[in-house]
Amino acid sequence: MKKTPLKIGVLVSGSGSNLQAIIDAVRRHKVKAEISIVISNKADAYALTRAGKYKIPTLYIDPKNYPDREAYTRTLTDELKQRGVGLVCLAGFMSILTPYFVKNFPLQAMNIHPALLPSFGGTGMYGHHVHEAVLRSGAKYSGCTVHFVDEGCDTGPIIVQEVVPVKDDDTADSLAKRILKIEHKLYPLAIKYFADGKLHIVGKRVWLNNK
Ligand code: GRF
Repeated sequence: MKKTPLKIGVLVSGSGSNLQAIIDAVRRHKVKAEISIVISNKADAYALTRAGKYKIPTLYIDPKNYPDREAYTRTLTDELKQRGVGLVCLAGFMSILTPYFVKNFPLQAMNIHPALLPSFGGTGMYGHHVHEAVLRSGAKYSGCTVHFVDEGCDTGPIIVQEVVPVKDDDTADSLAKRILKIEHKLYPLAIKYFADGKLHIVGKRVWLNNK
């Protein structure tokens, strides 16, 4: 019997360059999965245009139509569930979901963060704030992290990381650009490991079962 491919749901808010990397990896059969839905909390997210180009179903869920974060989370989670999504990828999604989401997708949701967690993560650490904090700290290395989503902010089990050196003349922008390039390689890799059933999770540790 043919196995049905893993269904991925991608959550976005912005440009969607990571979404593009995921689309490319799926189209090139590097990742054995299909993208069933792209959901945005922003009407004008360019990510929606990217998805549209490939006829991937999209959904804009406007937070303003919901009384609170819990109601918003429930609607978004139920949309993903209804489509049989087995992995949710947060790709530049700028909204915090309640534990209802994590309970419905335990170790089935990933996020990409543009720094080496557990450093430079948590509340307020997004976009240029992350890179500015790295530069201020004097750290010689930054990078990116793909991790499972848990109930905390950037605290879930780390799946893969890659180091990017900080250059003396780096600005937040130049560092962000170099890291983003690596993100486009790292996120599809983490998804591939998941889709191939290669991830073994023990507490906070994620082992790659490459046998
Ligand atoms: C990336 O830097 C990602 O690490 C962070 O948000 C950014 C999203 O960029 N979570 P894009 O929308 O994928 O281009």
